[in-house]
Parts: sequence; structure tokens; C-alpha cells
Amino acid sequence: MTWAAITGWGACMPPAVLTNADLSTILDTSDEWITTRTGMKERRVSHVSAMQLSTVATRRALACAGLDAGDVEMIIYGSCSYEEQVPNAASGVQAAIGANRAAAMDLNTACTSFLYGLSTATAMIRTGVIKNAVVIGVELISRYMDWSNRNVAVLFGDGAAAVVLQASDTESGVIGSVLGCDAEAREVLRVRGIGCGYAGRGIMLGDTAWDFDGPAIFKRAVKAMSEASGRVLEGAGKTGADVDLVVPHQANLRIIEGVAKYAGIPMEKVMLTVERYGNMSAATVPVALVEALEAGRVKPGSLLLMPGFGGGLTWASLLVKWGERVTPTGVSDVALPAPTKTALEMVHEIRASQDPHGRSAAALATPFVA
Ligand code: ACO
Repeated sequence: MTWAAITGWGACMPPAVLTNADLSTILDTSDEWITTRTGMKERRVSHVSAMQLSTVATRRALACAGLDAGDVEMIIYGSCSYEEQVPNAASGVQAAIGANRAAAMDLNTACTSFLYGLSTATAMIRTGVIKNAVVIGVELISRYMDWSNRNVAVLFGDGAAAVVLQASDTESGVIGSVLGCDAEAREVLRVRGIGCGYAGRGIMLGDTAWDFDGPAIFKRAVKAMSEASGRVLEGAGKTGADVDLVVPHQANLRIIEGVAKYAGIPMEKVMLTVERYGNMSAATVPVALVEALEAGRVKPGSLLLMPGFGGGLTWASLLVKWGERVTPTGVSDVALPAPTKTALEMVHEIRASQDPHGRSAAALATPFVA
């Protein structure tokens, strides 16, 4: 039987930090409100494109795996922050790293894009379609955030990470996937203003209006992630007690606590990044995975549970059995250029270029209806 081992991993976090105190200078909010409601203290704002973040993360993951870019067979770019629709972003990473023999596809299920990508790549390797893949989770939400809306602006951050999967005879990698979508609730999270359905309405590029029912998402997220985790564990003949580490989507500390409690897993066994990075959508799980490995929290043979949810409302829970190697084969010296502005200065610039409640307000008032 063929498995799809995770043999390489690499993250690329933009260095500029936006704190709760920074946010309270531009919005009617406070460190106390954000911390108690979400567990977040700070998040990152990127000074480079999502494709650049992805390229650095991918180079690091390939060095870690000891795999040449020229031997990569598939690149899956999991994201909902595309700089362009055509050409796709995966082909941009392919060109940047010189993966001449690879196929390249973008995959958007919002915050679960990395988990869906990991499941998809695993299935393709296990069925012999490909022998290896790079799966990226990346998000650049700062560029289309509505920075005048405190309901959403405090929650999100930018970041990227990638993993390399390779065919293996030894049982490892994703050993169970449960995927689904609460489509009847797709209206509770919508970013108006991006997508061709908004073309021709006179919306200024980057202006958005967010439909966001936080409490409804919260309840559905806990339920869907918990049930999916129960099903994926049951399918593998495991219980919460068998899990060595939970690497969850990080939208809110209280959501994560609810999911861990339902699975009967103590919080000491949960990898948390939400305090430092906020919700990076598709990037949260792979960044947390990379940091868990770097912190020595993944051991040879560890059982990892990866639950997530996102706009759609898509949800997923993956069960991963780690292989023998928990240290990199090699290290890439690739790095981002240093930012020349602080995170708050970048946010001020983005804000100054936006005016969702002015120029674009009328056009954004009506959502696209199919
Ligand atoms: N600062 C201060 N006050 C705020 C802020 C803020 N940043 N944002 C909202 N408020 C106010 C609201 O205006 C409201 O005021 P009102 O009661 O006077 O109307 C009040 O705070 C709402 O408070 P709560 O109902 O207590 O908020 P709650 O505990 O539900 O927390 C939150 C809100 C954090 C959004 C929570 O519902 C949540 O985490 N939801 C799910 C997470 C989520 O949606 N994540 C992202 C989407 S999914 C994905 O990952 C793609």
C-alpha cells in the first residue's frame, strides 16, 4: 500500500507585527476586548505578495525534504487571497522555484484550503497519479480587509507555510480525512467586492464589505470541527486519548477550547499560535504544524489531529500519523527582504487607498446573487 508521508515543512511569516494596541489607535476597540473574546494579542501584516510568502515557504519545505524543485510533480496553492485569478497563483510559485515538471492548481475553500489541499494531494499520491506534491496554505488578508470594520479587522493576519508530501511504503501522513460544508450557512461569512460578480459596479479595487455573523460562525465551527474530529478518529479506530497533538485552525481560542473539550483532549496537547498570529485562514494549520515541529512537539510516530472550518462554511478534520523524521534534511537560506514600514504604517496606507463606505458603498450594498 502506498502512503503520502510529510517529508518537508517550511513557514514564511512576514515580520511586521500589528498589536492590539496598534488596532485601538484606528478602531474603537481595546486590548482587553480582543484578548478576552479571541485570545489574540498580535498578528502580522505582509509587505510582500502572497506569492512571495509562498515561494519562500516552499523553498524552505523543499530543502527540509531534500527534494529538488525540478522533481516536484504537483503544487497545490490553498488560499482565498489571490493577487490575480488568471494566471493561477500555483503557477507563479512553480515559475519562481523552477519546478518545470509540476502540475499546478489553486484550491479555495477559505480557511480550510490547506486541509482540503493536504487531503487532495494525499489521495493523488496514494492512487498513483503523482509521487510527490507541495501543499501551500497562504493568506494575505490585510490587502482586502475592511479596516474600518472592528468586527473583522481585529481577527485576521497574513502568513504562509508549505509541506512536501512524498510516496512511502510505510504508514504515515494523512491516515483519515473527513470533509464537509454547511452550505445553507454560506451567507454568514461573505466578503463583498472581490470576484467577477462585482465587476462593472464601480467598486474601487481593495474596497470590501464583510458580512460576518461571528456568533453563528462560532457555534457552527465548534459543532462541525468537533463532529468531524469524532468521525475521523472513529474511522481510524482511535479516540481523543490516542491523539498526541491537536494542530487546529486558529480563528478563536474559545473555539479551539470547545473542540478540544468535546474530543476529551487537554489543552496541553493543543498547538496554539492564535495569540501571536491571529486567524491567518488557510495558513493557520500549516504554520502551527511547522512551529510544533520546530518546538519538538511532534515526535516520531506522533498522532496529530487537524480540525478546521472556513467560509462556505467548509469544515474538515484530518488525522495524521507522523513518520520517523522530525528534523529537516536541509535548510534553505532564502529570506524575505526586510520591510521598510511598520505594520501600522502599512495598514494606514491600505486604509487610505480604500473607502468602502464612501465611493464603493452603493455598489457593495448588494451582494452578488447567482
Ligand atoms: N472591539 C470592541 N467591541 C467589539 C469589537 C471589537 N473589535 N468587535 C465587535 N464588538 C462589539 C460588537 O459591536 C458587539 O457590541 P453590541 O453588543 O453593543 O452590539 C459586541 O462587541 C459583541 O460582543 P459578543 O457578542 O460578546 O462577541 P462574541 O463573544 O460573539 O465574540 C467574535 C465575537 C470574536 C467575532 C466571535 O463571535 C467569534 O470568534 N466568532 C467566530 C470566529 C470567526 O468567525 N472567525 C473567522 C471566520 S471563519 C474563518 O476562519 C474564515
